[in-house]
Amino acid sequence: MINYTEKIAELLAPHIEGLDAAEIREMIETPADSSMGDYALPCFKLARVLRKAPPMIAKGIAEAIADEPLFAKVEQVNAYVNMFLAREAFAGEVISEVIAKDADYGRSDIGQNRKVIVEYSSPNIAKPFHIGHIRSTVIGNSIANIYDFLGYDIFRINHLGDYGTQFGKMIVAYRKWGNREDVINEPIKTLLEYYKKFHIEAEKDPSLEDEARATFTKLEHGEKEEVELWQWFRDESLKEFNRVYDMLGISFDSYNGESFYSDKMPRFVKELEDKGLLEEDEGAQIVRLDDYNLPVALITKSDGSTLYITRDIAAAVYRKETYDFYKNIYVVASQQNLHFQQWIQILEMMGYEWARDCVHVPFGLVSMEEGTMSTREGRVIFLEDVLNRAVDQTREIIKEKNVNTENIEETAAAVGIGAVIFNELSNYRIKDYVFSWEHVLNFEGETGPYVQYTHARACSILRNAGEDIVAKAKAGFDPSYITGDSAHELVTLLYEMPAVIQEAGEKYEPSVVTRHIVDIAQAYNRFYHDEHILVDNEDEKVAKVALVMATRAAIRNGLALLGMKAPEKM
Ligand code: ARG
Repeated sequence: MINYTEKIAELLAPHIEGLDAAEIREMIETPADSSMGDYALPCFKLARVLRKAPPMIAKGIAEAIADEPLFAKVEQVNAYVNMFLAREAFAGEVISEVIAKDADYGRSDIGQNRKVIVEYSSPNIAKPFHIGHIRSTVIGNSIANIYDFLGYDIFRINHLGDYGTQFGKMIVAYRKWGNREDVINEPIKTLLEYYKKFHIEAEKDPSLEDEARATFTKLEHGEKEEVELWQWFRDESLKEFNRVYDMLGISFDSYNGESFYSDKMPRFVKELEDKGLLEEDEGAQIVRLDDYNLPVALITKSDGSTLYITRDIAAAVYRKETYDFYKNIYVVASQQNLHFQQWIQILEMMGYEWARDCVHVPFGLVSMEEGTMSTREGRVIFLEDVLNRAVDQTREIIKEKNVNTENIEETAAAVGIGAVIFNELSNYRIKDYVFSWEHVLNFEGETGPYVQYTHARACSILRNAGEDIVAKAKAGFDPSYITGDSAHELVTLLYEMPAVIQEAGEKYEPSVVTRHIVDIAQAYNRFYHDEHILVDNEDEKVAKVALVMATRAAIRNGLALLGMKAPEKM
């Protein structure tokens, strides 16, 4: 496809002294208000070099390029050159490209032969997988999808929180008050109950804490019974996590979590020591980070046990040695910013020149309208319950609306779960937000159901148009029928899609894609409102159907990047 900014820069270059096409390209803008053209060149900066008033410069440039066939019109307005594309050729170029590439429209190979690790979800075993975890899961999955589409070689890791002193507590609680069936039937909730019960009982009987510590030490030393229980808790919990991942259509290449690194730690403690970074402090081993304005990092406790950050140091080196990543991305809540700052600093102090190829991608807090969550107090909302409720409510809406769909269950799942995903990916990830059912399941606002519904309506038009017309549109069309304002606006958005996907990748920001497909859906609905599509004149019908096909492909691809389905009927 023609790169229009590049092409325009080339046309302008001969008429602007002292700047080459690459420099001009950086100056070209796309005005927010379409009455100022598709592209504009502000001439303020040129005044110094050309020693003329900016409006004079703009006037000269506008006159020089006025006859270029790329443009329908070129205007000078104050210090700007406003350029209006010849819509017909533009529509022809863009739409035929989208139709030809279809499911691959927006795909790129910029990431060729580069390995990118995306670590996301990473819940803690025996602590609830709650609505807060959905953020990491959904944002991480979308970032992985986007990098995959950009041609990178993706490896998805779920760094399970499957290690730590809480396992001592859980084993003690299970032995004292637990039973096997409960764990098998509802592992996550049951283990959470044990954890809560342990804390209540330990208030009355502090010796339980010692017992838990001793039990964890046994686990660390690989004692058979403790290891077996730990393994069993982990297996049962993972089964339950996978049920939720299946609902979301999400999978991982590795579930190596914290426990995987438990025996790889001594090497790093020694390495820190050899490099003179370790200091002893009341029996504990620490790294001082004063020079970087960061608090001290605790590497091993006085009883010799290692910590979260120690395991993360081991994990980063393991990943570099095993996968030789180009980038190693961690999608983890902003509450852990400090942890990741300390960790990356330590990697750098250890002399790993790839330390800055590790990227922490933080996201903001989610709260429920009922108030914030607290594991200890049991005020948590389980992700699985949220997804089930979304599907149930969507099923009701579908029935109410009498939507024609053969498979209500499948559609309710695609739309209900899609609504939750879309909602997560609508705002800049760093923003905190309040979860609201009313907003999530709205079919009208800027929501998942709205975009999916727009897609389904486009599919319905294509069905009504018939196979014959669709085949003709694929083969070629006369773009002079799709040059109206709303059609042109839609074509422009389709053209921008590949650049938008790249931007989303660079910023680790799926919301850029979300917003763009909302824009496409809205532009499509304006087009649909402004024009009759299935008209009698066959050439006109074929051209409009071509635009509908391209729109459908762009929305479908965008939804897929977010991790959503695009039902053909709803
Ligand atoms: N399990 C942690 C939590 O739920 C997140 C793990 C993040 N990943 C990491 N490599 N530290 O808070």
